[in-house]
Amino acid sequence: VIRVGLLGFGTIGSGVFKLLNNERELITRRLYNATGRNVEIQITKVLVLPDEYPPELPEELRVTDYNVILEDESIDIIVELIGGLNPATDFMMQAMDKGKHVVTANKYAIFTAQGALEAKADETDVHLRYEAAVAGAIPILRSITEGLIGDQIESVVGILNGSTNYILTGVKNGKTLEQALDEAKQNGYLEADPTADLEGYDAMHKLGILGYLITGKYPPASSIERKGIENITAQDIEKAKQNGQAYKLVARATKNADGEFTYSVKPEALSQDHPLYHTEGVLNTILLTSKYAKELVFTGYGAGSLETATAVSGDIVSIARDLHIC
Ligand code: HSE
Repeated sequence: VIRVGLLGFGTIGSGVFKLLNNERELITRRLYNATGRNVEIQITKVLVLPDEYPPELPEELRVTDYNVILEDESIDIIVELIGGLNPATDFMMQAMDKGKHVVTANKYAIFTAQGALEAKADETDVHLRYEAAVAGAIPILRSITEGLIGDQIESVVGILNGSTNYILTGVKNGKTLEQALDEAKQNGYLEADPTADLEGYDAMHKLGILGYLITGKYPPASSIERKGIENITAQDIEKAKQNGQAYKLVARATKNADGEFTYSVKPEALSQDHPLYHTEGVLNTILLTSKYAKELVFTGYGAGSLETATAVSGDIVSIARDLHIC
């Protein structure tokens, strides 16, 4: 049995809990096929706030003090889904110091630590995985670090933030900005602090992580040109529509003449022949160009509970598999 301590039971945490329960048999069968052993994944403790009583969470799993999880030697994997910088970053560091593997969806913490979390995982010899941190359900990190491990990526162009794309699409289709923003919130697409989405910080964190996986080093925040959608009005969106264009928050990583990557996140009015024009609502798209594979396009849900839970669960199950193969 691989035991999991889940930190946070919000949009993604509750999705992971549901997915692992719903797909218990499938996952056990897949793990058997991969390892030849009967491996079961069990969530044994869930950290929530003292005043939080989610109805779907069995009382016997509910914990309000992180130390109870940290000191539980039977827990193999910590799944951090609290979000924000701290205490999330401290919790992950402490877990790795205790020899626990870590899975997270926290792009803000991963990007801001600029490699310190990965270094801690190396030092303590544990797995740290964060597929869900970039582009929700799209397995883009695996595609870069495994599928394209032998190729040279030359550029990334993408829509990496689902909520702003949902808002821009909604307004283009006749909703007011307030309506679209409110719906994005109701659907759980926005960060706890929505300015992270609206001002382009969230897309910048995700682009920075892609940059790290491609080049081996994190671009500092100060080196990424960043502009959000907060100054785009309904009139701007309507005017673009009349010209056959749609506004998108576009993230780019491009190699310059010296072979160095430069990074930007900013709104662009794209015309219909642009491959990102057709990415609507909460979808994300990533276009990769590389030396040998040439062009690859990935599209999928960039936010949402069960959609993002697939990426988190994939990390948990793959750690369980690797622990039994090694
Ligand atoms: N707030 C994020 C977004 C959630 O809108 O893309 C998924 O990372």
